[in-house]
Amino acid sequence: SIMREISGIVKMEQQLADKLGIQRAIIVSGNADEAPWVKNELGRATAQWMKSSLHGENIIGVTGGTTMSTVAKMLTPTKPDQEWLFVPARGGIGEDVKNQANTICSQMAENTDSKHRVLYAPDEVSKEMYESMIKDPNFTEVLHLIKSACMVLHGIGDAITMAERRKTSSENVEKLIAANAVGEAFGYYFNETGEIVHKIQTVGLQLADLTAIQHVLAVAGGGSKAKAIAAYMKRAPKSTILITDEGAANQLLKG
Ligand code: F6P
Repeated sequence: SIMREISGIVKMEQQLADKLGIQRAIIVSGNADEAPWVKNELGRATAQWMKSSLHGENIIGVTGGTTMSTVAKMLTPTKPDQEWLFVPARGGIGEDVKNQANTICSQMAENTDSKHRVLYAPDEVSKEMYESMIKDPNFTEVLHLIKSACMVLHGIGDAITMAERRKTSSENVEKLIAANAVGEAFGYYFNETGEIVHKIQTVGLQLADLTAIQHVLAVAGGGSKAKAIAAYMKRAPKSTILITDEGAANQLLKG
């Protein structure tokens, strides 16, 4: 029956959260690797969670990627008691414009009748560049907003897939392979034990900042991301809520 199916999923969600050592897991049907509608369901579940857990004025930090872009697509106008401001979590990290956090924040703002801010920062930021960027008051204001976020929405990707999508030099891809990088989030690359094996030097949210953020929503599905999710979760704050699909969850519970 439908009730049995539902309680089966609830049990699976509990097992997954326990296994990953995080607050909660939400599992949608299907496998995003096999059917494009599954990503929409990830987006819908994330949008619902946001709607039901936020009250009053909130700053929401967002990363890039196709999953985040789907979250944007599934968002609808906020309730009267909700006032949201979307900010990109980190500087651009080598994504195509449509998958960049700045673009996604503007779509999220449009679809929810909210506001957003743009972070003008290149992929990699040297110390000298940073020194000159912080002279711009708009830039420092956005950085400050990012650090005041009460919710962060982020994607997780397979390390080598992400390195290639970002047109990383073949030399650096080789280095990631040699270091057994399996997962990526926020511009950090992780091996299976959750160690950081490489980090893109950019501005905005750093991994250590996450522990101070009340709501951390990681959204990633598809069996091909199971290893990446497992690796990142070794590092993730315990308060993390993972929104995933059966494709990834089945692999994660097996592994
Ligand atoms: O580049 C931004 C980012 O969120 C990465 O941190 C993550 O690995 C990737 O996008 C996920 O992309 P997608 O949702 O397209 O798999």
